[in-house]
Amino acid sequence: MFATALRSHTCGELRAADAGTRVALAGWVQSWRNHGGLLFVDLRDRFGITQVVIHPDETTEAVAISARLRAEFVVRAEGVVRLRPGDNRNPNRATGEIEVKAERVEVLGEAAPLPLEIGAAVTVAEEVRLRYRFLDLRRAPMQETLRFRHAFFLAVRRHLDACGFLEIETPVLTRSTPEGARDYLVPSRTRPGHFFALPQSPQLFKQILMLAGYDRYAQIVKCFRDEDLRANRQPEFTQLDLEMAFVSEEDVFSVVEGLCQAAVRSVLGRELAVPFGRLSYAEAIERYGLDKPDLRFGLPLCDVSEIARRCGFRVFAETVARGGIVKGLRVPQGGALSRKDIDGLEAFVRDYGARGLAWVKLGESGAAAGGISRWLSAEELRGLAARLEGLPGDLLVFLADRPRVVHQGLGELRRLIGKRLELCDPGQLNFCWVTDFPLFEVDETSGAIQACHHPFTAPRPADLERLAADPAGVRARAYDLILNGEELGGGSIRIHEPEVQRRVFAVLGIDERRAEERFGFFLEALRFGTPPHGGIALGLDRFVMLLRGLESIRDVIAFPKTASATCLMTGAPAPVDPAQLAELGIALRPGPERP
Ligand code: AMO
Repeated sequence: MFATALRSHTCGELRAADAGTRVALAGWVQSWRNHGGLLFVDLRDRFGITQVVIHPDETTEAVAISARLRAEFVVRAEGVVRLRPGDNRNPNRATGEIEVKAERVEVLGEAAPLPLEIGAAVTVAEEVRLRYRFLDLRRAPMQETLRFRHAFFLAVRRHLDACGFLEIETPVLTRSTPEGARDYLVPSRTRPGHFFALPQSPQLFKQILMLAGYDRYAQIVKCFRDEDLRANRQPEFTQLDLEMAFVSEEDVFSVVEGLCQAAVRSVLGRELAVPFGRLSYAEAIERYGLDKPDLRFGLPLCDVSEIARRCGFRVFAETVARGGIVKGLRVPQGGALSRKDIDGLEAFVRDYGARGLAWVKLGESGAAAGGISRWLSAEELRGLAARLEGLPGDLLVFLADRPRVVHQGLGELRRLIGKRLELCDPGQLNFCWVTDFPLFEVDETSGAIQACHHPFTAPRPADLERLAADPAGVRARAYDLILNGEELGGGSIRIHEPEVQRRVFAVLGIDERRAEERFGFFLEALRFGTPPHGGIALGLDRFVMLLRGLESIRDVIAFPKTASATCLMTGAPAPVDPAQLAELGIALRPGPERP
């Protein structure tokens, strides 16, 4: 099917029916064995592996070749396909019934000794994999994932095309678009002292496409964010960005649900149930502590503030008296955990700002013991156990603090427990919408106000009057799409009136002058007939990662960056030639970290 000048077939193509055919194959030496002078070579390419047999007496080059051959040499073999003897067949390989008896063999490319094994299913340290990505990419898991990624993107594009979306590219060299991260900046040579920012998202461009009348835009697009990296974040990542005119939330939901359904059907052959479940932001926080709840298992957080308010454990009572809350979580069969294990859970929640973790164990009779039980009456203990629906043998854990700390600490702990106790069916795909986000995040200590999503998100019309007086109480027309407890996407219905946009900027502390400086072009554009519009962006790397059941986003990206945002293969970022800097009008301050 992929015949070229150098080959007649790929290494995955030949079958029993091809026996007797003269062929030419080319590929990498996966492995080779010398059996009494007969050389068996497994030749590999993207399509599969074919066994090539080289007879030293019949193939003039064979003797020389067998002395030279090493793993990952690129070899071309011409010969005839023949059936393998019955006991030599390999039922685990598509080409396992045949082999190619070589008549001519040539080495097209030699390979240096390998720093990592390609064929074996061994675990290789990630640093080594990233340093030698060109070799890592030859390994089967990466090849399968990148093929899957391609098929997935193709299914997405096909579906969007069928739904009338136009794919329109937006610039990479642009102005800052606030999405809550730092910008990557690119200095301008033609305007010294001026910088482009790489887009954190195409947000403003897609809104401009709506007012320019394109009605439905979608783009598979790279976004760039200089932020703290985690297992599910990369400094450059790929979004499916889309925007639609004349829509409400429901229109966006149904397009995205249809898209997920079509794409998952295409790559996994599975049928997703739609519509996806929905949860308000307030419900998500209340029950699961996080705005990206993993709904593959239960274990909701339970508010026990009413019991705690009057109880004998002072930390609880005082927290509630100060306006805080106390919530609990049951750890099924956690009664078997050692003191050290529980200390580990406490250290975990401390990372999220909690000051400690209170606990009791439920014995076989269901009676509570250990931890804080000695400060509580039997009735209080029974009340707590009943509220958490604790079962004999469980561990009950509690956090008492400000709501934000309690929710984050227990929410993350719930995730950890779900993972440790393997409460989730790994094959499940649990999608849900989280809706009714607040428009602003107000910092509890400094009072600083930030946009919860981004500053272009529309407030609920009913909340417009409270914009200035009670920003914390304003709800947004924003939504997130969650898959198995990961934020897969976020979007909103947008502000389409320049006046409302100015008022939102004002709440965010962006005064008229700064608004004009940063977003003048956009505010101006809004004045020329802007339709109501809305959209969403899905993180496609995350999507592929979750569909493949992988833990790290780096495993679905061909050339990813490390957790410190560097590329171990190319060595980027790297110092530049002083002449280049001079041309850009940039002088570096001497610093300890610079060479
Ligand atoms: P948001 O900032 O929520 O929305 O991004 C959308 C989705 O992109 C993915 N994502 C990332 N994936 C990998 N690495 C990162 N650093 C990273 N940051 C975000 C997530 C996220 O849900 N312009 C808006 C969309 C809109 O309003 O239409 C936006 O970018 O899966």
